Amino acid sequence: MAKWVYISDIAQHDGQEVTLKGWLYNKRSSGKLHFLQVRDGTGVIQCVVFRGDVSPETFHLADHFPQESSLIVTGTVRADTRSPIGFEVAVKSLEAVQEAHEYPITPKEHGVAFLLDHRHLWLRSSRQHALLRVRSEVIKACRDYFDGHGFTLLDAPIFTPAACEGTTTLFPVDYFGDTVYLTQSGQLYMEAGAMAFGKVYCFGPTFRAEKSKTRRHLTEFWMIEPEMAYCDLNGDMDLAEDFIEYVVQRLLTNRHAELATLERDTSKLANVKKPFPRISYGEAIDLLQKKGVEIQWGADFGGDEETLISEAFDRPVIVHRYPVENKAFYMKGDPADPRVALCMDVLAPEGYGEIIGGGQREDDLTILQEKIRAHQLPEQAFSWYLDLRRYGSVPHAGFGMGIERMVSWLCGLHHVREAIPFPRMLERVTP
Ligand code: 4AD
Ligand code: MG
Repeated sequence: MAKWVYISDIAQHDGQEVTLKGWLYNKRSSGKLHFLQVRDGTGVIQCVVFRGDVSPETFHLADHFPQESSLIVTGTVRADTRSPIGFEVAVKSLEAVQEAHEYPITPKEHGVAFLLDHRHLWLRSSRQHALLRVRSEVIKACRDYFDGHGFTLLDAPIFTPAACEGTTTLFPVDYFGDTVYLTQSGQLYMEAGAMAFGKVYCFGPTFRAEKSKTRRHLTEFWMIEPEMAYCDLNGDMDLAEDFIEYVVQRLLTNRHAELATLERDTSKLANVKKPFPRISYGEAIDLLQKKGVEIQWGADFGGDEETLISEAFDRPVIVHRYPVENKAFYMKGDPADPRVALCMDVLAPEGYGEIIGGGQREDDLTILQEKIRAHQLPEQAFSWYLDLRRYGSVPHAGFGMGIERMVSWLCGLHHVREAIPFPRMLERVTP
């Protein structure tokens, strides 16, 4: 057998005989020729079976082999200007590994529910393949950014004793007779980490019992959360915009082919350079009112409001200082205006809404205790957290970025469900 190579490395083997191991993606025939589209996970290449070049058995196999059967192909690599990857393979022999019958996903159109039911197979199609490769690169870029900026990775627990982001979206779990919850955010643990390491981040799955069916909500999503000691709201916004610029620009460099497969208009992404515009919640309300929206100071923004705000800018916009009313207990109040918190959201362009939420944390013990009581949270569960304000409390800030929201925006997806390999939503926990 010739040398086994991956399709992604095919250019290094021009003119050589190679072996590919993969699956039959698609096929068309014209009498003496069969054109097999073979995929191996790293790419798709056309393998041409010419009757004059192969044994009758191989030619027969090429004619009858069904879609998504696994196969091993040996043949000669040759340059071809019509090929999207610049090469094709002239087949010498084919080996059937397993014959697949009636693969459920055919080149015809399928409904989303059907495709989600077959998510384990849907992953093989070129669009899903491209966008999950983008996800992989986004995650790598996030990790590289923080690793390269002096942050220590500190993993947060998944089982937690208390709520971080409000008690209405908790998933309770029976823990040897006690009730614990799946984590909503690693933030509180990162605050402990920041006091020990200065700059930390965590990256892991987080859970929200979201009862709303929207195109932006999953019940299980992945979040990257940096936290910095001796950092205020301004420093937090500086970090967020520098981080987003890095991830977006790196994606444009490293995942050009995937973005092309997704037919993503990358000119809009090329714009994502700092500084990002920064407006206060109050200014955002004015902007909405000028656009004719009937909204009053104090109201929460939904998806529609976020879209209207972001439409006013050509890159992500940071909205800061939201009213304390609707915000989490840990947020620090603005000394200049007690009605608002020192928090911020980054809203993505093109209607993708909030991709980052974060801000400066309350660092005063007494105020934090009062807030825990005002939010009717179980004080006992937060006693460890209050220790952070007892022993060397300092100003600190951080944020969380949802990977799926980021990937949805970068790939131009209609719904976050495609931005994660196996989505979990209100009505879906399979496959
Ligand atoms: O704004 P959120 O709720 O903030 C926090 O959890 C903070 N504790 C983070 C921190 O400061 N360390 O969530 C942060 C981000 C959102 O901006 C969004 O990108 C994503 O997490 N997110 C979701 N993504 C998918 N589905 C959901 N249900 C999400 N909820 C939040
Ligand atoms: Mg938020």
